[in-house]
Amino acid sequence: MSVNSSNLHVFVASEKYESDLLDEIKYRGNLEIVKKENGIIWAKGPKQALWWPQWQLWNIQTLPIESISQASKILKSHGKYWINLDYKLHRRSSLIQEGIVKVKIPQVKRGHISDLIKCGAWFLEDANQISFTDDISIPFKNGIPAVPEDKSAPSRAFQKLDEVFARIGRFPSKDEKVMDLGSHPGGWTWVLSHLAKSVVSVDTVALDTKVGMQKNVEFIKKDAFKLSPTEIGKLDWFFSDIICEPERLYSLVNEWRDLGLVKNFICTIKFKGTVDFDVLKKFQNIPNSEIFHLNANKHELTWTCLDKN
Ligand SMILES: C[S@@+](CC[C@H](N)C(=O)[O-])C[C@H]1O[C@@H](n2cnc3c(N)ncnc32)[C@H](O)[C@@H]1O
Repeated sequence: MSVNSSNLHVFVASEKYESDLLDEIKYRGNLEIVKKENGIIWAKGPKQALWWPQWQLWNIQTLPIESISQASKILKSHGKYWINLDYKLHRRSSLIQEGIVKVKIPQVKRGHISDLIKCGAWFLEDANQISFTDDISIPFKNGIPAVPEDKSAPSRAFQKLDEVFARIGRFPSKDEKVMDLGSHPGGWTWVLSHLAKSVVSVDTVALDTKVGMQKNVEFIKKDAFKLSPTEIGKLDWFFSDIICEPERLYSLVNEWRDLGLVKNFICTIKFKGTVDFDVLKKFQNIPNSEIFHLNANKHELTWTCLDKN
């Protein structure tokens, strides 16, 4: 694949969260928006992973094309696997895509990590030029992993965990202890009880009966902010989906980090009204952190902080 640094990037906004993405670009202060169309934002500036987009295509190259076959040839000469950003000129795009190797993007499967293929992405801005890059945030069509339905989970929140595990390429294993804060009604605890050895599940409201009855789930009915870390002990994974001020969550995870009791964190940072970008920067500055907007996230972001192994 080619090495290119055009410093022109395409950020695909999550449906309903385009204004958060635009606010983020303003907050970052080093990107200049050159075009906005149908939830897709072109910006110039240094390459960076933003927090709010659904998909990020960095360092875009654009070349003139005279025919469909020439467009397919250009892609083939720059790499093997290409995902089309479904944007416009659908018929012409699908004919170009037919001329290159088909990419099979696997469906997300709980408890399995599929090998993600190294793909590039491409699109047509108009019929006479093709834009492409091999530098993309995630190899899923339009940045969205296909998470299957789970009718047995007591809430839709299970989608966030299935999606984040597919994205990070890891999940808790059968010999690991995890904790799930803000767990009611139990979508996350349900997923975790099928993956981990044991789950400490904490909420001020009781779990769905079926979830609470899982043999490896210990439910603690308590305010998560009043939990004593030393009573819980070492954890392989710390999960939180608590509805609270981001600053409160930041203090809580730092309390656990300072004690060195946790290997991996996955937390939802939730916003009421305007986004607190300063607190996001503080989360981002924690070593080994990543922040992104999952397809299953609402007005919230997912923060991961994983041990290197
Ligand atoms: C979005 S829901 C969690 C959904 C859950 N992850 C699931 O998969 O079903 C947020 C939860 O946070 C809980 N919560 C809010 N403040 C809390 C606190 N201080 N301590 C414990 N739980 C809290 C609420 O009771 C609520 O059940």
